[in-house]
Amino acid sequence: MGKRIREQMVRLLLEQKEGYVSGEEISQRLDCSRTAIWKHINELRNEGYQIEAKPKTGYRLVYRPDRVAPEELIPHLDTKYIGRKVRYQRSVASTQPLAHEWAKEGAVEGSLFLAEEQVAGRGRMGRMWHSPTHSGIWMSLILRPQIPLNQAPQLTLLTSVAITRALRKQTGLNIRIKWPNDLLIDGKKICGILTELRGEQDQVHYVVQGIGINVNATESVWPEELKLIATSLAIEAGKTFSRPELIGAICGELEALYEGYLNHGFAPIRILWEQYATIIGQEITVRTGLHSVKGIAKGLAENGALLLETNTGVQTIYSSDIEV
Ligand code: BTN
Repeated sequence: MGKRIREQMVRLLLEQKEGYVSGEEISQRLDCSRTAIWKHINELRNEGYQIEAKPKTGYRLVYRPDRVAPEELIPHLDTKYIGRKVRYQRSVASTQPLAHEWAKEGAVEGSLFLAEEQVAGRGRMGRMWHSPTHSGIWMSLILRPQIPLNQAPQLTLLTSVAITRALRKQTGLNIRIKWPNDLLIDGKKICGILTELRGEQDQVHYVVQGIGINVNATESVWPEELKLIATSLAIEAGKTFSRPELIGAICGELEALYEGYLNHGFAPIRILWEQYATIIGQEITVRTGLHSVKGIAKGLAENGALLLETNTGVQTIYSSDIEV
């Protein structure tokens, strides 16, 4: 019932185009009380609609969110298997455990778990990942590569390259990679990747790659501490983007690079990663457990580790971004 009224309300707001529709008109046309209207307006806002309320004038629809449901995604997919099997829920705690369950049930390679909102989104190192409704891409991708466990970090690097390429093409923004796998615009984070896996030393069983991208978020949806370090594609470009279209583009880049990786190894990915990375040739400090090492970032080793030139010679740094 409430859903139907909200749909009618959106239609009414859309009819007004640039103008406002008064509370009284909504109340008459939808045959509901002013209190009920207020409740529905707030629910629409929780679903990502931006509705301006002007005293004595009425309501105006400023932004209508898109959805990442499978029927919206399929028209934008040009892949053989990545994103071809989708599970979708409007709101979840986190897409990660749901993707793990699905993988254990036998989900095929390329299966994708998508949500509009995560109420307990997970970041790396036990941090939380803020995932407000309809404002970003919150998804977990299942891969089943025939590789040993110690090569798994290469997959995270591959994914960061694929997302960088897709987002650069779609938005024209100068997106760069911060080692190991944060995507930044002018030093502010727009995307994080969380790789989790199950396997034995000589064979990965499956990998769940959690991908979080701030797409159409405005600063108002973030807590204060995030505003300093995070940004979104919409903030940077001054316009919103279709999330299903971006997901389609990411799946396309991912499949192309993943196929290349399975057939030709990590070397081509390494070259691309170094091209987009922020730190090559720069002095950086890397924290490895309790210690920190200072040096010049030279590039990636064949296995995906970072080569750091220090006073005592070149050191190989492994990222701690894989959770087993
Ligand atoms: C990071 O700390 O940079 C990694 C963030 C990863 C966030 C994504 S959003 C989809 C998936 N589900 C989660 O709970 N986390 C990952």
